[in-house]
Amino acid sequence: MKMSKKIVSLTMTAMLGLSLAACGGGGSTSDDAGSSDAGESSGASSDVANKDKPLVWFNRQPSNSSTGELDMAALSFNDNTYYVGFDANQGAELQGTMIKEYIEANIDGLDRNGDGVIGYVLAIGDIGHNDSIARTRGVRKALGTGVEKDGEINSEPVGTNADGSSAAVQDGEIEVGGKKYVVRELASQEMKNSAGATWDAATAGNAIGTWSSSFGDEIDIVASNNDGMGMSMFNSWSKEQEVPTFGYDANADAVAAIAEGYGGTISQHADVQAYLTLRVLRNALDGVDVDTGIGTEDDAGNVLSDDVYVYNADERSYYALNVAVTADNYQDFTDSTKIYESVSAQLDESAHASKKVWLNIYNASDNFLSSTYQPLLQNYDDILNLEVEYIGGDGQTESNITNRLGNPGEYDAFAINMVKTDNAASYTSLLSQ
Ligand code: BGC
Repeated sequence: MKMSKKIVSLTMTAMLGLSLAACGGGGSTSDDAGSSDAGESSGASSDVANKDKPLVWFNRQPSNSSTGELDMAALSFNDNTYYVGFDANQGAELQGTMIKEYIEANIDGLDRNGDGVIGYVLAIGDIGHNDSIARTRGVRKALGTGVEKDGEINSEPVGTNADGSSAAVQDGEIEVGGKKYVVRELASQEMKNSAGATWDAATAGNAIGTWSSSFGDEIDIVASNNDGMGMSMFNSWSKEQEVPTFGYDANADAVAAIAEGYGGTISQHADVQAYLTLRVLRNALDGVDVDTGIGTEDDAGNVLSDDVYVYNADERSYYALNVAVTADNYQDFTDSTKIYESVSAQLDESAHASKKVWLNIYNASDNFLSSTYQPLLQNYDDILNLEVEYIGGDGQTESNITNRLGNPGEYDAFAINMVKTDNAASYTSLLSQ
């Protein structure tokens, strides 16, 4: 996935203006919203076909889970379709750099067995998820352990790699204070449970048990592609061992754990993403330019500055930017469900009538989505006058979720978080009927 710092182009804006005018229902309902029933939910706009209703994919970008290639058919399902996520490559680079800088600043005593090898283990979330792939690459790139495959850093798990002979990685080298250390990825694996759920925290907790009994004090660093898995490993092993552990997401429990030795995490600006997820729907339903309340101030004063997100028009995707959270700044991130200040103003219901949105979370027990993302969505839905029905999936099958989209005609817009990034058609086919 390529990222370019592009903002909404004029042509795009013009095109959306036209398509929204053509879309009818959503726009026209809000036109007469000034009248008596403005406060009431509109119910679904009966004159808009489901296939023409606003649709936002979030957190799992429609894409081929083997190659990462974007599924543009899903991303441009209709003129009001978008993806909201975060800049996976920029975040991954930060994650890798955060770990490398930690090693450089804390080298004294870090090499626990003094063998000159900084050994790390890596918890991979979902080998078919672009975010997870980017994070594995980011860690390997910064630590010098990546090897190229098809022009990119190989993101495959190594299983175990006690002697450094794995073909999926190589031994890296880091020089600190005039001394050279080898850096070795001792072990890595996808954290998938037997029922098929990925990014599985309990699986990571078990894995660190196995890894620590094989590698013991060869493990100097624990790296994880998210905080759910990172905290599980921290709580079951590394906290007591005082082995620095790094995650991703800036979930509140992980940020708090920095005071107790958790090495650091990355904020993917969920406060901005949750806003964007609902905001693009609100704008389409209001029949206004998609940039309203995003790059352009809305009638309540909401606007985002361009240092917290980028829009890539070709990919029809909004990406929030990431920030490293370490011992230096974690106090600023302790409340992960606090909404972003500059987009916290309530919309006037007479101009932005209440609308119904169907939204699913692919796995109700995903730490990041349940403890950070959903509470943020719930804060923003009131501000944006959206009546959102939240559906929690089991993280294993798409049908567990699609079964609960029995009557799309009842909703004005949809926000979808797939189990597997290849499966967009499971949803769009329901909206096309
Ligand atoms: C988050 C993970 C989460 C995953 C779910 C990622 O962006 O970092 O914590 O498990 O999304 O799809």
